[in-house]
This record gives sequence, C-alpha cells and structure tokens, in this order.
Amino acid sequence: MQRIETMVRTLLLACTLASGLLAISGSAGAAKLLSESDAQAAAADYQKYCALCHGEERQGYVNDNAPSLRSESLMRSGFPLHLMFAIAYGRRGTPMGGYFEEVGGPMSREEIYRMIRWLKDQVDVEPVELSLDPIVGDVEKGAGIYKEQCAVCHGESGQGELAPAIGNPATLALTTDAFLRYAIEHGRDGTDMPAFGDILSATEIDNVTAFLRSRASGWTLEKPVMRTPPTKDEYVINPDGAAPEFELKDGHYVLSADLNQAIEEKRRMVLLDTRVMSMWQMGHIEGAVPIPYYYDKYDALVADLPDDGTWIVLYCECPRAAADYVNRGLREQGLKNTAVLWEGIHGWVSLGYPVSVGQSTTAPKLADPWAEAEESAPDPD
Ligand code: HEC
Ligand code: HEC
Repeated sequence: MQRIETMVRTLLLACTLASGLLAISGSAGAAKLLSESDAQAAAADYQKYCALCHGEERQGYVNDNAPSLRSESLMRSGFPLHLMFAIAYGRRGTPMGGYFEEVGGPMSREEIYRMIRWLKDQVDVEPVELSLDPIVGDVEKGAGIYKEQCAVCHGESGQGELAPAIGNPATLALTTDAFLRYAIEHGRDGTDMPAFGDILSATEIDNVTAFLRSRASGWTLEKPVMRTPPTKDEYVINPDGAAPEFELKDGHYVLSADLNQAIEEKRRMVLLDTRVMSMWQMGHIEGAVPIPYYYDKYDALVADLPDDGTWIVLYCECPRAAADYVNRGLREQGLKNTAVLWEGIHGWVSLGYPVSVGQSTTAPKLADPWAEAEESAPDPD
C-alpha cells in the first residue's frame, strides 16, 4: 500500500532527523557504511559486549542459544530498525538485554548506530522494505501449523528451546508482522531455521504469522481483542485521581519509572501515542490515545484536551523524535503541562512496564479516527 510505505518512510525520517539514522538507512548494497576507524571501534565493541553469546564470528549459538548475526535473511529484513530495537532495548524475558544507556546499558546512541552499520557491513545484502500492515490469517489453522512445524524448536508455548522465544509477549508486541513473516518464509540462512516458503503455502505462512501475533498479549489468551481507540470523553485516564507531580528532565521529559508510578497510583492524565496507528495496534500503554505525529490539526486536538493542569504525556519509539515533534505543536498552542516519555515505548517495555495489545488478526485495520489526517499527511520528500 502506497500510503503505508509513505508512512514508514515518514516514520524513518522522523527518527532520522533527530538522531542520525539517515546515514544508516540511506545507503545500501556494496558501499561500506563505516570508515576504517569506526569499523575497528565497532568490532571492538562487538567483541567486548556481544561475542560471549553471539560468537566471535557472529555465527550465533555460543551461549544461551543466541541467534546468528550474520544471516543474509536477518540483515535484509532487520536492518536498520529491528536490529536497532533488539540491541538498544533487548528482548525482555530472554538473555538478550538492552544495551542502550537510557535503559541501563553501556552503549550510547552513536555506538549502537555504529554497531548496526558494522553488522550490516559484514553481510553484503540489499535491505528489503517491509510494510507495517498487519498480516491477516486464520489463527486457528495457524495454531495447528505451529504445533506441527514449529513447536519442536520454538517450544509448545513459544518459550524458545533450541530457537528464539517467538512467543515472548514483549518481542511480539514490538516486532512487525512483516518481519516475522519474512523470517518464516525465507528462514535464516546458516542456521537451523528452515525457509518455510518451500514447505508451506503463502496462506499457511500468513496463518502461522497471524497465530504468532495473536499470542502477543500472552500465549494462553483465547482470542485477540479488537481495540477501538478511546473516544474524546475517554481521553483523560483516572479523571477522579489527583495530578501526578512530575519532575521533568530538561524541562520536557518524564522517566518511565515516574510515569509507571503515576499510572499505578491512578493519577489523572492523558497519554498520547504519537506513532503511526498500526504501531498503536501492536502494543501501547493502556489508555493511550493514538495521535500520529503527522496529524497536524493541533487546534482541533487542543480543543479536545483538558486545559486545567492535567498532565499530557506523549510517547513514541525513536525514542523521542515523533513525540517531541507533537509536543512542540501542543506547546505552541499554549498547553503547558506536557511531557515526553524519555525512554520511548521500547525503553518502557524493556524496563518491564506493561503494554496492552490491540491488534486484530481478522481485520486489516481498526476504524481509524485520523484517516482523514493520514490522507493529507505531508509527503516526506
Ligand atoms: C548473554 C547473551 C547475549 C549477549 C551478551 C548478547 N546477546 Fe543478542 N541475543 C541473545 C539471545 C538469547 C537472543 C534471542 C532472544 C530471543 O529469544 O528473542 C538475542 C537476540 C539478538 C538480536 C535479535 C536477532 C534476531 O534474530 O531477531 C540481535 C540483533 C542481537 N541479539 C544483537 C546483539 C548485540 C549487537 C550484542 C552486543 C551488543 C548482543 N546481542 C549481546 C543473547 C545475547
Ligand atoms: C529446526 C528448528 C526450527 C524450526 C522447525 C522452526 N524454527 Fe524458527 N527459528 C529457528 C532458529 C534456530 C531461529 C534463529 C535463527 C537465527 O540464528 O537467526 C529461528 C528464528 C525464527 C524467527 C525469527 C525470530 C527472531 O527473533 O528474529 C521466527 C519468526 C521463526 N523462527 C518462526 C518459526 C515458525 C513460525 C516456524 C514453524 C512454521 C519455525 N520458526 C520453525 C529454528 C526453527
């Protein structure tokens, strides 16, 4: 879908402008992304932080069944965003920790970018563009395929035995369907993960992908719930609660720990999820209202938001670019009590705070209240 592709590019752009991802995603193919000295520094970081499990040659399976970091399949489908998220924020509940300093890891943003480019430079492939659209399939049939074809390696409940924990709710909530489907169809060359494109039909692959997605809020869940975004009168969560007392970092940012505490104490606030709508469907902080960053009718939005000192907390995943952008728009309209979640939603998940999942496996999309705004989203070019 053209519009979705445009949105992905816009999303990348929103990250890049603020952070320098452009240099990562911009070029592909044969040209090396790193200079000699940066490559040496990244290789040293790799040996220091990663070789223990992923192996000195990135071959994987040295400790904790850590996957290969040199399969062409992973580099094609995972570069740059999925690699970045896995390395920066880890896979909660697995031995893969988060390496980004903002979630307690040892690496700066620049060091993580350098690592991703270095990993890519070691494998000479062209990355594929993957859609953010949910994959529609028959969950029940997918469950049957999973049992027959996948459980032997990934475990009866996706817990991972000889292979990654693909039933891990945190991983599923923050990984796109297209990325999962790519791994299933193409396998991971040089590893035990077979290419099911040779074994299953395209529909069967859709079914098992939809089945995995349906487990994103827990393996035992019976049916995925279709979530509808909050209506205007539901924007304020805990309307009878007291306002939280946030101390903002740099005048703009609230830490995940403080936000979580406010949620647990049932404080009154508004949460705005500023990512593209499909990301909200994959997983969001309970009660958050999807206001994608390309929604530019700030005056209309502000009219729907309380102006009585209620805190408005915005988040995205970059970890802050899109939310910063919307926040600027709100403050220009005169709203004062606004804050951006410092660690972004990936940081939030990797620190162990809860997300609720709102993806349907039977319909391609929720009724999207901002459809009109999407249509008029500015072209990133
Ligand atoms: C303690 C062992 C350990 C260390 C150290 C470690 N990893 Fe991992 N890593 C894992 C495991 C285990 C997984 C698979 C987790 C799962 O089940 O999803 C993983 C997954 C990943 C993935 C996702 C791969 C995929 O197939 O989707 C990436 C990328 C990654 N690690 C990169 C790194 C990098 C880069 C470093 C060093 C900065 C590192 N890891 C350090 C154990 C480790
Ligand atoms: C023979 C064992 C085996 C079987 C059978 C198998 N897998 Fe895998 N799978 C693996 C291994 C090993 C990996 C990690 C490969 C690597 O190092 O990148 C993997 C990776 C994956 C990934 C990528 C996970 C990530 O973190 O990036 C997905 C998704 C996946 N498998 C789904 C499936 C599904 C669905 C099936 C059944 C249709 C299946 N696998 C069957 C061994 C297996």
